[in-house]
Amino acid sequence: MIEKKETTRIFGRRVYRYLQVDSTNKIAFRLAREGEVEGTVVVADEQSKGEGRRGSWWFSPREGLWFSLILRPSLNFSQISLLNILGAVAVAETLQSFLTYRPVFIYWPNDVMIGEKKVGGVMCRFRAEKDKLSFVIMGIGINLNVKEFPSQLQKEVTSLRLEEGCFISRNLFLDLLLRKLEDEYICSSKSWFPILEKARSLFPLLGKPVKLQTPQEEWLGYPIDIDDRGSLIVRLDSGVQRVIDAGMSVRILKG
Ligand code: BTN
Repeated sequence: MIEKKETTRIFGRRVYRYLQVDSTNKIAFRLAREGEVEGTVVVADEQSKGEGRRGSWWFSPREGLWFSLILRPSLNFSQISLLNILGAVAVAETLQSFLTYRPVFIYWPNDVMIGEKKVGGVMCRFRAEKDKLSFVIMGIGINLNVKEFPSQLQKEVTSLRLEEGCFISRNLFLDLLLRKLEDEYICSSKSWFPILEKARSLFPLLGKPVKLQTPQEEWLGYPIDIDDRGSLIVRLDSGVQRVIDAGMSVRILKG
C-alpha cells in the first residue's frame, strides 16, 4: 500500500507499507534504482530476511519497527560514515524521549544501546557513480515492542518495551523519528559539526579501553575521536593510530 501525505516535509511523504517482506532494504534499493524520490520510506511489519551489518541476519518479528529511507545526498562516497552517524544520533534521541531513567548510547558508528544491550541499528547501503553517491538506502531497525528474542541474542539485545515496560505505537515512533532525521539531514547540509558533537557525547567509549575485532584479527586500543568525516580515530596499544570508517568490518567492544 502506498501512502502519500500532503505535508511540507520530505521524509515520509511517500510511504510503502507491507505486512511481510524479505527486507525493506532490498525493496527500497530497487525503488531508488528506478528513480523513486528522496524521502520515500519502505516499512514492513515483519521481515523474513532482515539484513544487518557485516552480513549478519537481523531478527525482525512483528513487534519491531523495520524501515528503509531513500536518500539522494550531495555527498562523496567517502562520507558515508557521516550518514550512519546521523541515523544513529536521530534514533538515539528519539528513543531517549521515551525513556524515563535509562540513558541511550551509541556504539560508533551505528549501534544504538541501552546499557550494554543493543536496542536498534542503522545501516547504509548505497550506489555511487565515480566518487559521488547517487542514492543511499538508510535501513533502520528498532526492537520497539519486542518481548522475546532467540536465546542466542538474549544477552546482547533489548527493546523499549522490556526497558520501559510500555507499548509504543509504531506509527507514532516512526513519525517522530522521521522528523528528527529530516531536521538533522537539513542541518547537515550546512554543517556536520553539531551532529558529530552529539555523536561524540553519545559515545561512551571515547577515551576508554576497547577491543577492535575484524574477521581476521583483534587489537586493543583507545578511541580518541570521531573525525570530521565520521571515521573513528583509535590509538592502538602498539602506539599506532588507526582511522576506521563505518564501511570497514570492525566490531568495537568494551576492553
Ligand atoms: C545493524 O546491523 O546494526 C543494522 C541493522 C539494520 C536493520 C534494518 S531493519 C530495516 C532495514 N531492512 C533490513 O533488511 N535491514 C534494515
